Amino acid sequence: MFPSIDPTTTSAWKKLKGHYNSIKATHLKELFAQDPDRFKKFSLRFENILVDFSKNRITEETKNTLLALAKEVDLKAAIDAMFSGESINKTEQRAVLHTALRNRSNEPVKVDGEDVMPAINEVLQKMKEFSSAVINGEWKGYTGKRITSIVNIGIGGSDLGPVMVTEALKAYQKPGIEVHFVSNVDGTHIAETLKKVDHETTLFMIASKTFTTQETMTNAHSARSWFIEQAKDDEHIKKHFVAISTNGKAVAEFGIDTQNMFGFWDWVGGRYSLWSAIGLSIACAIGYENFEELLAGAHAMDEHFKSKPFEQNIPVILALLGIWYNNFFDAESHALLPYDQYMHRFAAYFQQGDMESNGKYIDRNGSKVQYQTGPIIWGEPGTNGQHAFYQLIHQGTKLIPCDFLAPAISHNPIGDHHDKLMANFFAQTEALMNGKTEEEVLAELKGQNLSESEINELKPFKVFEGNRPTNSILFKKLDPRTLGSLIAMYEHKIFVQGVIWNIYSFDQWGVELGKQLAKKILPELSDKTSVSSHDGSTNGLINSYKAFKNE
Ligand code: F6P
Repeated sequence: MFPSIDPTTTSAWKKLKGHYNSIKATHLKELFAQDPDRFKKFSLRFENILVDFSKNRITEETKNTLLALAKEVDLKAAIDAMFSGESINKTEQRAVLHTALRNRSNEPVKVDGEDVMPAINEVLQKMKEFSSAVINGEWKGYTGKRITSIVNIGIGGSDLGPVMVTEALKAYQKPGIEVHFVSNVDGTHIAETLKKVDHETTLFMIASKTFTTQETMTNAHSARSWFIEQAKDDEHIKKHFVAISTNGKAVAEFGIDTQNMFGFWDWVGGRYSLWSAIGLSIACAIGYENFEELLAGAHAMDEHFKSKPFEQNIPVILALLGIWYNNFFDAESHALLPYDQYMHRFAAYFQQGDMESNGKYIDRNGSKVQYQTGPIIWGEPGTNGQHAFYQLIHQGTKLIPCDFLAPAISHNPIGDHHDKLMANFFAQTEALMNGKTEEEVLAELKGQNLSESEINELKPFKVFEGNRPTNSILFKKLDPRTLGSLIAMYEHKIFVQGVIWNIYSFDQWGVELGKQLAKKILPELSDKTSVSSHDGSTNGLINSYKAFKNE
């Protein structure tokens, strides 16, 4: 196991504090003026992905001190521990091996002395056969019709990954099959979805690692009732329901034939599970060959992460930059801004990936941390975001480091749409860095037929300080391999940050309390008697709810 070190006690952290004071007033423009090679020095290439991190408020000294921090906390030992199947998710006593799921090298990976690769390959083979049968129409519904709709029922990691990937890779979608996702326990979600599908040609995938999650099981039972109401016979379930889970017993109890169950293992974290059987809806949507490419892209990034020295290691560099802003500039959030409509769920996906992993205030010794940990992750696709929240990024009082992501080649090359999109992509990071000086504003206003006093009044509003840091992640095309690499890149970034913050990134105890209370409250909602066992606000709200619904 790698050491547990409070990062603030390292000499690199102390150095970074002093260094921050000497650099905080420096403008990015000055850094570029001082060094014509800055782009070359502060950018990295991985296959068809270019990561330009030169528009960050860093110097060689910053980079070297951040790298020293990674060394001091023994990041290398942590990386080796994860890849080798050590039980690094200590509070759940589990290994963390989503990397084994996409281990295309097939080199053995051992958990408790047993190689997990044969079992992984067996499930992949089953996914391959099943998805091919669904796509080519061999798998038929109970009336002999082919499947045209898939409804994936799951939540959190059993939903967000498949949703994000099937959206991102829509250009690869197989014709004749539509994929729907139901996650919210709000009955509207399942009701609206069921309106769009025909029970004879629909396949439900019940995706739940535990097969106990309230939202998923409620939706699954409603889907089952809807189906049986029309099919009239439980027997037909086997043609229309499959399960993706680690819990065979609960799957059988639900009434799904365990022949139609796709398994995975407790060492796959929910938010890292799209590479497992949880990706079955992805394989059925884009074809198994494309799913395999997604795995291959992630595996290639794993190899990069495992083997590259830290100064050339993209996830490590991105993580260190995040630490720099989070812990020294006091930035509270981080924006993910994909300039690709297909990636419209990318930020939502990494909200869970990052915030459920690193939203922790207890360190690996069980003590409360005295420093900031995981940031708030948010974002929307460009250019929509530009017309919504970019005002605050440009001229607000908060520092928001942003990642801009874009493909050089569009899947939809209509007229000059893509050049226009990319012109905005380039313009935004340039504007965020350079801003607009008072002199520039004055020169602009003077050409506009305004009086001296009008110019002076307007001037302060039109100045942009700039010096807002960004990463630009430019890739050739959004294909399955590239998407796999990008997802793995962010997964590893999150891992590195968790190691440095000395927290456990692979548990999620913070989601439990709300679940427990909701279970307790549920029976209180079914009768008319008023409740008094909660605090005043909660009693008041529950009683008002009951009054409204029973009026
Ligand atoms: O939100 C908590 C959580 O446990 C996530 O980590 C997980 O992805 C989600 O619930 C769904 O869990 P399951 O796949 O067991 O239904």
